[in-house]
Amino acid sequence: MCYNHCMAKQDLIVSPSFLSADFSDAAGELGKVMSSGVDYLHLDVMDGSFVPNITFGPKFIADLRKRTDLVFDVHLMIENPERYIGDFADAGSDIITIHQEATRHLNRALAMIRECGKAPGVAINPATPVEMILPVLDMVDYVLVMSVNPGFGGQKFITSSARKIEFLSSIREKEGYSYLINVDGGISEKTIRTVSDAGVDMVVTGSAFFRSDDKRAFVDRLCNMAAGVR
Ligand code: DX5
Ligand code: ZN
Repeated sequence: MCYNHCMAKQDLIVSPSFLSADFSDAAGELGKVMSSGVDYLHLDVMDGSFVPNITFGPKFIADLRKRTDLVFDVHLMIENPERYIGDFADAGSDIITIHQEATRHLNRALAMIRECGKAPGVAINPATPVEMILPVLDMVDYVLVMSVNPGFGGQKFITSSARKIEFLSSIREKEGYSYLINVDGGISEKTIRTVSDAGVDMVVTGSAFFRSDDKRAFVDRLCNMAAGVR
């Protein structure tokens, strides 16, 4: 199966990050994402505490939800995310990803996401060892490896994240887990081969996607490069 309607054989999922969109024309920017042929939209929620930036909350997501059937891949960069899981579920999220570093009760928070009927994801910052999430790997649908320090788009890819992807890929095979491995931060034509060679299933792309004049061609290039077509 091939996502993103690209010609590549490998089923790389591309999830454009709305953080790099012009929020004053949210509907227009959403239309550009939809016409690029992707199936997912990455929505970065920031609280000014867990990360040094503030974005938007459930109302913005609910308003976007009225205009699209894209899979909403909601990345919560907020402290104690369990306080808001119900609100983000009601807003129309499909995937809700929370940070290991943001809650004392990661297992409980991930279970809450599942109980809301949503797909749970766990994220780890660049300085967090991947071993920190070993106890929850059997309860998540997505693992998000941060390849920049969260908070802003347009940062440089941190190469050590590739080793985490390799580890997550090999332990999934060994233990029979079923999560998809996602990577977020600094993904472009320059870095896609590093993460695809490491075994990534899905990539978030913000600044590189939104600065592309032909977004469909950009997505196709990422898919093709991930599949080894140059
Ligand atoms: C950063 C966000 C990312 C961001 C990625 O904290 O989680 O999703 O939008 O942007 P780029 O692709 O520009 O690194
Ligand atoms: Zn993100």
